[in-house]
Amino acid sequence: AHASALNLDRITRVANRPTYIYDLDNIKLRGEALKAAFKTSRCAVHYALKANNHPLILKLMQSLGFGADTVSAGEIRLALAAGISPKQIIFSGVGKTVREIEFAIQTQIKQINIESPQELERVIECARRLQLRVDVAFRMNPDVNPDTHPYITTGFRENKFGMDESFLAELKALLRNATDAVRLRGLTLHIGSQLLELNSIRDAIEKTLVVHAALAADGFELDRIDIGGGIGINYGTNQEDSEFEMILDYGKMVRAITQNLNIEIMLEPGRILVARAGILLTEVQYIKRAPAKTFAIVDTGMHHLLRPALYGAKHRVVPLDESRLARDMSELYDVVGPICESSDCLAHDIRLGSLRQGDWMGLADSGAYGFTMASHYNAHELPDQICVSGGKIIL
Ligand code: LLP
Repeated sequence: AHASALNLDRITRVANRPTYIYDLDNIKLRGEALKAAFKTSRCAVHYALKANNHPLILKLMQSLGFGADTVSAGEIRLALAAGISPKQIIFSGVGKTVREIEFAIQTQIKQINIESPQELERVIECARRLQLRVDVAFRMNPDVNPDTHPYITTGFRENKFGMDESFLAELKALLRNATDAVRLRGLTLHIGSQLLELNSIRDAIEKTLVVHAALAADGFELDRIDIGGGIGINYGTNQEDSEFEMILDYGKMVRAITQNLNIEIMLEPGRILVARAGILLTEVQYIKRAPAKTFAIVDTGMHHLLRPALYGAKHRVVPLDESRLARDMSELYDVVGPICESSDCLAHDIRLGSLRQGDWMGLADSGAYGFTMASHYNAHELPDQICVSGGKIIL
């Protein structure tokens, strides 16, 4: 209902190879909904570039007033190139190198999210070398285990991310001897991605606020909490309404548990803003009728959209030509790519109107973690990317 109708048939005439199409209007609607949901609290949105870093999407985020959540020097550079102010860029991730930390400090970004005591020591050394001071936040591991794919939970005690309270004594000692180099501004958390219920996020925020209060009692006056990203979408349907409702509920929940605190609420959303906006177009190369299965072999695959192979993710397959929808849906297909791996399957056992060589189809909801996870495996080229707005291609 909220997605603007794209004339995909017209676009396939422009594209002659696998192509991601991004609907900027859909992203804008979602960005505005998120802003509205958090409006009455002191809130700052930092878009997680790892979901999709197309320059026009980053420009759109900038125009919405959003900052950037980055995890590499490369992502910091992309955010800067899109006109996002360094004062709105935060730097997350467990494996930051000396060169990346120095670059972040020199760029005078808003905050480095610290993942371990060793990393804090490294940041202190870098800041001293550069004779600059940098704001930091501690990434806590609140030990909640949300209901999502095990590869994308991050706030459980067995994950490599964040720190539990046993780290605090060491962290505080480091801070006390380094007031010239770093300033602790807040705590951060991110418990996982593709979350479809808010209870585990609320638990995690509440647990982290307890640590906030304990640090305050110790004389560390924190004025920020960064609640991460993680809100998911319903890949099984094209109905987006419940996602807009979830955005509203998310805002309400966060406001309710932070209303008495005079601190900035920081968000790091990725998927919820961009997943729905993307579709990956591909052309059927062969229909292969094997005794056990019929394969539709297409010119895209795990090298362009890794999610099905890596997480068993299911992206809806949409035939582009309306007349195909009317054809009888009796045939079952595995939609597979050209890669020399059996996991290179984009969709298992799906019913599609009988397909022919040369048909085009789209893999829906692939705007997040699609192109950014693409590779050159088997020396294939990366897919193209096209942005549209108002039904027109934006160059
Ligand atoms: N903040 C941090 C610290 C993160 O690690 C992530 C995602 C985000 C924010 C944004 O999360 P989102 O709002 O998009 O859920 N490749 C996987 C998803 C990996 C997510 C990694 N971290 C997928 O395709 O499902």
